[in-house]
Amino acid sequence: MKRAILAVSFGTSYPDTLEKTIAATERTLAEAFPEWEVRRAFTSGKIIQKIQRRDGVTIDHVSQAMTRLEAEGFTHVAVQSTHVMHGEEYEKMLAQLEPFRLRMQVSVGMPLLHGEEDYAAVADALLQWLPGPEEGEALVLMGHGTPHFANASYTQLEHMLRARCSRVFVATVEGYPTLEGVCRQLDAAPEIRKITLAPLMLVAGDHARNDMAGGEDSWRAQLEAKGYSVRCILQGLGECPAVRELFAQHCRKAVAALSQGGKLWGVGVGPGDPELMTMKAVRVLREADVVMVPNTSSGGQTALQIAQPYLTGQEVVLVNTPMVRDRTVVDAAYEAAADQICALLERGKQVAFLTLGDPTVYSTYMYIHEKVLRRGWEAEVIPGVTSFCAAAARLNMSLCQGSEPLLIVPASHDREELMDVPANQVFMKAGRSILELQQTLAERGLLEGAAMVENCGMPNERVYPDFSQLKEPSGYFSLVIAKGGVQ
Ligand code: CO
Repeated sequence: MKRAILAVSFGTSYPDTLEKTIAATERTLAEAFPEWEVRRAFTSGKIIQKIQRRDGVTIDHVSQAMTRLEAEGFTHVAVQSTHVMHGEEYEKMLAQLEPFRLRMQVSVGMPLLHGEEDYAAVADALLQWLPGPEEGEALVLMGHGTPHFANASYTQLEHMLRARCSRVFVATVEGYPTLEGVCRQLDAAPEIRKITLAPLMLVAGDHARNDMAGGEDSWRAQLEAKGYSVRCILQGLGECPAVRELFAQHCRKAVAALSQGGKLWGVGVGPGDPELMTMKAVRVLREADVVMVPNTSSGGQTALQIAQPYLTGQEVVLVNTPMVRDRTVVDAAYEAAADQICALLERGKQVAFLTLGDPTVYSTYMYIHEKVLRRGWEAEVIPGVTSFCAAAARLNMSLCQGSEPLLIVPASHDREELMDVPANQVFMKAGRSILELQQTLAERGLLEGAAMVENCGMPNERVYPDFSQLKEPSGYFSLVIAKGGVQ
């Protein structure tokens, strides 16, 4: 499991404020989460381009950073936004993350102002950190402003600030509230003669230097023209330790959400008798949100029938697993199944995937299990009673004793040469070619002492303690035990 935190900022092309705000926030995250690799991405394409052209330095946008993490094998990514609010840039980031959610575990930390407690924390932090307005002085914070409805965040923050200190105002460069509105309020308070201006933005970049503190038309110039004495603080919010700590707190929630994801269980349901399921399998099934079964005429539906007595209304999903020999077709189906499962795990679902017998013995499930593990999710196998153990038990015989080796052969594949191995032999899934198998065993003198069970433990079970007595073909779930090879 490789874990990364992707710190996503709007960006700035001013290297000094970049270092003191964005890089400082990234360092706070790295210190708070020492086991997580911290990476950088910007949401502003213009700023990325500008830095690339000017300094030859490449900064990733969100998709690039995620592609890079995926290629390097990262499976868990907590994305921490350093945006001030849940506005356009934040939503752009969410959209760019979307395609990666199917292939990696991704969770997103909230921007600075999200819950009510964030506004209170930011109001307290700013009033402690900035020089508090003295008698006859006002503090005016410059926000960016946005056509997005998240713009309402500015007045909510101003309201909280005002509850703490009556001479604090928030205005924005591009939205509401405006500097004109602040000036009208200041006109009603003639005792205020001094104004401190500070950015309400993560960085003290272009807007702070030019629109706020610059020359003609800047807020400073406009306020000075009205006779105020103006002081400008060129510090972005990212320089405030309490603000950085708040980002780390938001990131902690994102990190916690990652490890609280769902889990996949590969559940062996045994050979057929529901009483042969393990107590653990039954418990996991009862606790599962979703039960998955391979959608094949042979194993899948049978596994579902066996587990049915223990199901209590869980959602049942059939997974398409084609029974063909073309590996690309099969692999594509398993990939799709893994996607389907990971999407459920992402939503925190517990998924039980049923397998006839035991998942580690010739099952489709293990291919999917490996793919889900590789995508960074937790997956666990619950063993089941295998068909050959159940068949031996049904026949009142041992599979192997003392120094006898045991050989398990998938009889549906042509492995005739294995018959010469001196071992007790189990031929699984012998259905299709059962009479040929009988013939071949007879030719090698192995038929004596061979036994056969069809559909072991199921209602349509047939038992042949003497395999040579079988005269007609049998079904897919036929199993032959031949012990003639060991003297
Ligand atoms: Co702007």
